[in-house]
Amino acid sequence: MSNMSDNSRRRFIKGAGALAGLTAVSSFVPVRFAIGATAPVKIGILLPYSGTYAMLGNSITDAMKLRIAQAGDKLGGRAVEYIAIDSEMSVPKAPTNTNKLIKKNNVDFIVGPVHSGIAAAMAKIIGKRKTPIMIVPNAGSNAVTGPLCAPNIFRTSFSNWQPAYPGGELMAKEGHKTAVTISWKYGAGIQMMAAGKEAFEKGGGKVVREILIPFPKVNFQAHLAEIASLKPDAVFSFFSGGGAAKFLKDYAAAGLKDKITLYGPGFLTEGVAKAAGAAAEGIKTTLHYADTLDNAANKAFRAAYKKATGKAANVFAVQGYDTGSLLIQALDAVKGDAGATADLIKAMEVAVIDSPRGSWKMSKAHNPIQDIYVRQVENGEQKLLGVAAKQLEDPAKGCKMV
Ligand code: BEZ
Repeated sequence: MSNMSDNSRRRFIKGAGALAGLTAVSSFVPVRFAIGATAPVKIGILLPYSGTYAMLGNSITDAMKLRIAQAGDKLGGRAVEYIAIDSEMSVPKAPTNTNKLIKKNNVDFIVGPVHSGIAAAMAKIIGKRKTPIMIVPNAGSNAVTGPLCAPNIFRTSFSNWQPAYPGGELMAKEGHKTAVTISWKYGAGIQMMAAGKEAFEKGGGKVVREILIPFPKVNFQAHLAEIASLKPDAVFSFFSGGGAAKFLKDYAAAGLKDKITLYGPGFLTEGVAKAAGAAAEGIKTTLHYADTLDNAANKAFRAAYKKATGKAANVFAVQGYDTGSLLIQALDAVKGDAGATADLIKAMEVAVIDSPRGSWKMSKAHNPIQDIYVRQVENGEQKLLGVAAKQLEDPAKGCKMV
């Protein structure tokens, strides 16, 4: 019971109290069984359930719960309690929401967020504490596994650099010489565009204009007119969720789709290709997942997710599912003792996740080392074209654990 947080210790004692009652009946009842019967592991969730990223938050949540349900709705033999807060994609509200989960709800883990700015705000609070353990199931903020990295912060998704750098390389490899970048003006967009630009220019290209739009605005018309007048060979872009669907449609409606090749990290088409219809068809992107990946874990996952939700899986669901797998492995390793923080961290550091995206493990900075794929939208599906970067590890600049 070393390193046990006060929250878990209280619940552990409550469980032990129940055990005292049970042992009067039978001296063969294992301690952990008694705890599992009385005190659930508490998972705080801070994800968007409204606005442009609502689809992302719902996909992550559904898939994480699905994975844990597949394990009998138990973590290390204990029941699970979820306490979810809608992040509303609000950076100013992030400290209050985080502190609420920690101090009012006494959670053992916090799963979240989607948005890079919120991730940095949360990491500044959680990284200064020993508990709870934070698992980032989407937000790519480079800083979270860079200067803000901490023993109790893990990510099951990607860093913003990871899918974007190979995207810039792809654009150069496909013979483009000039490009315009366009994205939302906040951490994710800024970092992804910088990584794509660096790779593109290393490959001999030149970024001639960088357009940044306030998040989560979607009035693209004037910017698309500017792109048309600049006539670059290619456009490199980050948008996601509802904003991405709108961008793809506006890009096609402006007559640019067949004239200026559109690239970007795969968030541009992920989960929205069906809604965008013809406007998304043929677009090539780079990401750590493709719908058609031919492995047993992916096939089983896609079928189970479809059955549970009625929807087609996407990368956000994969990240949620892997978050569930990581929690299962970690709590199994400590037999449900959510207060054994040091042992939990060790178990998460060595976990091998048999993921729908392909098997992956954590870097020293606690970020997935993973393949980045080239995909192309075909009939609304993210079809695998090849591997853009094998077992790519984020540089984790500024992380003291590396
Ligand atoms: C981010 O803010 O880090 C992010 C949001 C949506 C998709 C990808 C990254």
